[in-house]
Amino acid sequence: MQPISTDFTSWRSHLERHLHHGSQRLMSFHPCTRSTQDVAKQLIADKGVEADGAIIVADEQTHGRGRLGRSWSAPPGACLLLSCVYVCPHDRLGIEMMSPACALAVAEALEQVTPPRSINVGIKWPNDLLVRGAKIAGLLLETVKVDTLSTAVIVGIGINVSLTTEALPLELREGDRPVTSLTMLGCPTERWQVLTAVVQRLDERLDSPRATESLHHPHDEVLTHYRRRCVLLGQTISVRCDGCDYRGEVIDLDPLVGLLLRTEQGNVVHLPAATSTIVRG
Ligand code: BTN
Repeated sequence: MQPISTDFTSWRSHLERHLHHGSQRLMSFHPCTRSTQDVAKQLIADKGVEADGAIIVADEQTHGRGRLGRSWSAPPGACLLLSCVYVCPHDRLGIEMMSPACALAVAEALEQVTPPRSINVGIKWPNDLLVRGAKIAGLLLETVKVDTLSTAVIVGIGINVSLTTEALPLELREGDRPVTSLTMLGCPTERWQVLTAVVQRLDERLDSPRATESLHHPHDEVLTHYRRRCVLLGQTISVRCDGCDYRGEVIDLDPLVGLLLRTEQGNVVHLPAATSTIVRG
């Protein structure tokens, strides 16, 4: 395979120009790394709270990871592989709201970079983004204690940008979970454009001091938008949680307690995102 030679210098200068306080932000770009999440963790260990706002991007990862210990593989150069660091003191958005706010931000950014009304991005709880039933992006949020006052959230995002069916890893081509990309949807877009839109929207949705426009979202507003995009609400699904299987109708999604499922026996169970996986949608 031809090595990818991405012009990361122009990506950096584009971000510096278009992000609020862009030139003061830590950014690192990697042709190939283990996982951008690991780079972010090291940065937090080295810089402490100064890692707030850091942006880490890679063309390729050798040990990319997804939720619940799954691996995340992507052909070099076809996906936006990104980790963003947000250090949260207590006066910022609560950690429990980070997950829905980030999923919402990425969904909004994807719609923003594609021609008007060409794609509608849905959210499959907790953090998969779907277009026409196929996965276009996934998010992985990991937290690291910085000091007694602050926790850093590493928002890991993988977005299928120019991925083609032929380039799909075998396990995804043959799996029962369909995958799509902006190119497959007929919306070819450059990764740097997606990157800028995603970081801007994350800054806004997370009420970061770096947001160009402070949206000051009350939690209810984030959740209203999140729920509107949720493809699972009202659906009957099967979920595995801590070794037990549950089947029932999704009646709500709550950032604190997780998925609320009304089982076929009529009980309502709360299934936390950290330990639940949907086995049949
Ligand atoms: C999922 O779908 O389970 C989440 C996938 C998250 C993948 C991204 S790619 C960039 C960042 N680095 C990683 O190792 N994982 C996240």
